[in-house]
Amino acid sequence: MTNEKFTNIVVAIDGSDLSKKAADYAVSLAKEKNAKISAVAVVKFHQTDAFRGSTATLEKFIRKQAEIAQKWLDSVRTEADENNVRFESKVIKTRTNVPEEIIKYAKDKRSDLIVMGTRGRTGFKKVLLGSVASAVVTHAGCPVMVIR
Ligand SMILES: Nc1ncnc2c1ncn2[C@@H]1O[C@H](COP(=O)(O)OP(=O)(O)O)[C@@H](O)[C@H]1O
Ligand SMILES: [Mg+2]
Repeated sequence: MTNEKFTNIVVAIDGSDLSKKAADYAVSLAKEKNAKISAVAVVKFHQTDAFRGSTATLEKFIRKQAEIAQKWLDSVRTEADENNVRFESKVIKTRTNVPEEIIKYAKDKRSDLIVMGTRGRTGFKKVLLGSVASAVVTHAGCPVMVIR
């Protein structure tokens, strides 16, 4: 038996029902273990045709997406508060790689557990494990709990 502890739990939120379920697990586990939760939502954007020639439009789009993501995180905060669980959160904007940002954030937070859904917003029912979940499970430096 090891004496590994869960003290810093990262939960990855994309607004999907499964990520909400992951948040529920994270909060109840954090409550039981007296752990802290760091919730993260990554907003990915690219300069697509729709935005060509209009930086202002792209910036507006990103800002809107970040506001939506912040709301998801705020609702996890409410749940954490109700359970007296310490909480912080971050919206991260990236042009490149969502799983990489989640893993980097978890490292920053010295996370000893990442909680996430098996699937997310893309949600192809036939896919058993989404691409973000798969990459995080494969490359994270700590245990990962995938919720189904
Ligand atoms: N942009 C994101 N920011 C934070 N967490 C995310 C993001 N995308 C996915 N996740 C996490 O990964 C889980 C699995 O999602 P994903 O692998 O993207 O599956 P899908 O392909 O069905 O969207 C989600 O339930 C969520 O916990
Ligand atoms: Mg996805």
